[in-house]
Amino acid sequence: MKTIELNHPLITHKLSILRSKTTGTKEFRELISEIAVLLCYEAFKDEKLDDITIETPITEMKTGRLNEDKYAFLPILRAGMGMVDGVIQVLPNAKIGHIGMYRDEKTFEPHNYFFKVPKDIQNREVIILDPMLATGGSAIDAIGELKKVGVKKIKFLCIIAAPEGLANVEEKYPDVQIYAACIDDHLNENKYIVPGLGDAGDRIFGTK
Ligand code: PRP
Ligand code: URA
Repeated sequence: MKTIELNHPLITHKLSILRSKTTGTKEFRELISEIAVLLCYEAFKDEKLDDITIETPITEMKTGRLNEDKYAFLPILRAGMGMVDGVIQVLPNAKIGHIGMYRDEKTFEPHNYFFKVPKDIQNREVIILDPMLATGGSAIDAIGELKKVGVKKIKFLCIIAAPEGLANVEEKYPDVQIYAACIDDHLNENKYIVPGLGDAGDRIFGTK
């Protein structure tokens, strides 16, 4: 599936502040959360609703309601944690799993160090959260782990993606719909996204 990029003035506005190297930790965290909410809106655009009937103070009406039990979010540690506050504003009852992954600084290969998901995960649609999709290695591993435990429907929400990484994920897992707030230009020799925003985990957690 072709990646869906959120082309919207609000996103460009928020990204311009997020990307700036002078933006501090507090504002950086808030923006990651806000953009995660906007990504979630897009990702749920075509979701099916259960038909229900309610009574307003005026009259009875037929309407729809999302079955929140059908979903789980899976932030990729660490940086994906920054998106959790935002997405649970939209779906407060969704279950949350965690996958721990870090990129080796020399080989750029991802290493999986933690995997804990709700026990009925195979019955849920899983929405992976990670602000950065660079080479796509972390995304591919996270999707692979979910498929191993039987998850059938997966979406991937990221804030900035590199075209090279998107091509890798789209080729390996054409059934996974990726949503990116912005697709950037390229990866540099250290596999950082250009222009990007630097190291998302370090900026969220203030570790550098
Ligand atoms: C970053 C980012 C992604 C990964 C993307 O995490 O949050 O998980 O790199 O790179 P890839 O597409 O080339 O795999 P990092 O490994 O720096 O760990 P952190 O979140 O703990 O900072
Ligand atoms: N991880 C990040 O945090 N930033 C990048 O640009 C690439 C990988």
